[in-house]
Amino acid sequence: MTQDEMKKAVAEAALEYVQSGWIVGIGTGSTANHFIDALAKMKSRIDGAVASSEASAERLRGHGIEVMDLNSAGPLPIYVDGADEATKYLHLTKGGGGALTREKIVAAASETFICVIDETKQVDYLGAFPLPVEVIPMARSHVARALVGMGGNPVLRENFRTDNGNVILDVHGLRIMNAVELESEIDHIAGVVSNGLFARRPADVLLVGTATGVTKLTA
Ligand code: A5P
Repeated sequence: MTQDEMKKAVAEAALEYVQSGWIVGIGTGSTANHFIDALAKMKSRIDGAVASSEASAERLRGHGIEVMDLNSAGPLPIYVDGADEATKYLHLTKGGGGALTREKIVAAASETFICVIDETKQVDYLGAFPLPVEVIPMARSHVARALVGMGGNPVLRENFRTDNGNVILDVHGLRIMNAVELESEIDHIAGVVSNGLFARRPADVLLVGTATGVTKLTA
């Protein structure tokens, strides 16, 4: 089974958590795209969706699913999204696609966060995947110096702006032993909008697509 087939299978498995009449929070990335495509099959039974990126909003609209504003639709019963890394504590690194801030907002506004990954994303410690940090452009150098002070090696994501008009620093070289603490510490640097650690609000359910089927971990 290819990695993409595992992503598709796990995304389809998340459908069973969606109930009729709900407004569904939708993440970003290739696994979330598979979920959007699967959700289209039951679109007449849901009330609409809130997207964590312009790209996901466009894909939802392409399927004829109504995309709503979080301010009028929230709080939401469910949020479904992928991740770049996940631990058995359901702590995540996200933001490989650069949508981390909106993802964190929609996750925070949702009752249940279902994270869907393929088995290659499971790790003992977060940090091998460079940690994305969204930064207000004028604070780029200040934030980078602070991240170096924390033991990281921040690299500016080239030719990239977030949906919010900001830049991303991808921080290499971190072996994250306390994700909750580091998430707060990075958020407190002036100029940081948010970072890709999802530990203070981890996933509630982690579905993992493996070569032999989908497994489930809960918090
Ligand atoms: C998007 O900003 C990320 O948080 C994604 O959830 C993450 O990169 C997973 O992407 P794939 O599903 O494409 O692997």
